[in-house]
Amino acid sequence: MDEFKWTEDLMIGVKAIDEDHQSFFDICNNLIHIENKGEIDRLVIISYLNILNEYIEGHFLREEKAMKKSNYPHYAGHRHHHEVFKKRVEDLSKLYIDEKIDILQDLIHLITNWLISHIKIEDMKYRNWITESNIDSRHLYMID
Ligand SMILES: [Fe+2]
Repeated sequence: MDEFKWTEDLMIGVKAIDEDHQSFFDICNNLIHIENKGEIDRLVIISYLNILNEYIEGHFLREEKAMKKSNYPHYAGHRHHHEVFKKRVEDLSKLYIDEKIDILQDLIHLITNWLISHIKIEDMKYRNWITESNIDSRHLYMID
C-alpha cells in the first residue's frame, strides 16, 4: 500500500486546521507502514486507533466551533459529514478491539478516501469563513 501523500492543494490556509489534517496523514501513514510490514502488533494498532479517534473528536470540534463562531451557513451539513465519518471509524475501531477482526485495510481506505475528498470539497467551502481570528488554535486535547 502506498504512502498517503500530503499535497499543497489540500491547504486550507488556517494553520491549526492544516496541521490537524497533516497529523491525520501521519497517523494514517503509520498504519500503512504497519500493514505493509505485516508485523501486526495489536497493542500498537489499538494505540493508533485511540489516537485517531481522539484526533477526529478534537479536530472536528475545532472546525465546528469556528463554523458556529463565524456563522458559517453550511454548518449543519458539514457537521453531519463529520458525524457519519466519526461513527464509521469508531465502529471499525470497535470491531478490531472487541472482536479482533482485521479492519486495518478497510480503515486505511476509508480515511484516505474520505479525508482527501472531504478537505477538497467540504473544508474548502469554509475558507472564506474560518480565519486565524475565529479559530481555537489550542492543542486538540484542549478543545472543549
Ligand atoms: Fe471538516
